[in-house]
Amino acid sequence: MIDSHAHYDDSRFDSDRDKVLQDCVEHGVTHIINAGSNVTSSEKSIELTKKYSFIYASVGIHPHDVAEAEDDAIDKLITLSKEEKVVAIGEIGLDYHYDFSPREVQREWFARQIALARKLKLPIIIHDREAHKDILDIIKSENAREVGGVFHCFSGSKEMAREVLDLGFSIGIGGALTFKNAKKPVEVVDYVPLDMLLVETDCPYMSPEPFRGKRNWSGLIKYVLEKISEIKKIDYFLAESQTGANAIDLFKL
Ligand code: NI
Repeated sequence: MIDSHAHYDDSRFDSDRDKVLQDCVEHGVTHIINAGSNVTSSEKSIELTKKYSFIYASVGIHPHDVAEAEDDAIDKLITLSKEEKVVAIGEIGLDYHYDFSPREVQREWFARQIALARKLKLPIIIHDREAHKDILDIIKSENAREVGGVFHCFSGSKEMAREVLDLGFSIGIGGALTFKNAKKPVEVVDYVPLDMLLVETDCPYMSPEPFRGKRNWSGLIKYVLEKISEIKKIDYFLAESQTGANAIDLFKL
């Protein structure tokens, strides 16, 4: 199993990080992409890649954090991106649900980090919350298609999924697919071809059923894969191996 989006640098893992990561290996997790959300967390992600052979990192500034970002953050990200196991720029994007950073600042940093990804020839990991139109507009105007990437924790409709696929981007699916009231995610998984789907935890957040509300970890991805195989009426191991191959391909693991 490959977890294409996790946050093991989060303080909620401080008391037992080593044990949780050991459990991941014992439960068949072969690769984890740890997503940075600011310069410090990107540095911590890289530290994790050095400690664990199966962890890879993305570096970037999350829309929540851009208001606080320093002027030299892009230069710092360039330096960090030179590290061996950095495979993407992210997570980057727009969050109009919480609006922790002014929207104009979010858009500016999203565009700036797409330009960075193009310069470095790295795919992007996109965070899109209630900002579908602006996200698609900026992806088009900044020509993000050149590097591609994934819409992590995809929350859009089937129609939006079609636009995302047309732009050449993959769709990241996490615990929300398993929630009892999940309707849109089920339609999206049914619609999107298996070779464009990635699976992820976004841990410590977004635990799947029956663990909703508890701390998430990569071993729980199997509940997401089970749901995908049920919706697409395919074998569990096909869902696991194809989504894994998709991640290997996109991030060149
Ligand atoms: Ni995340």
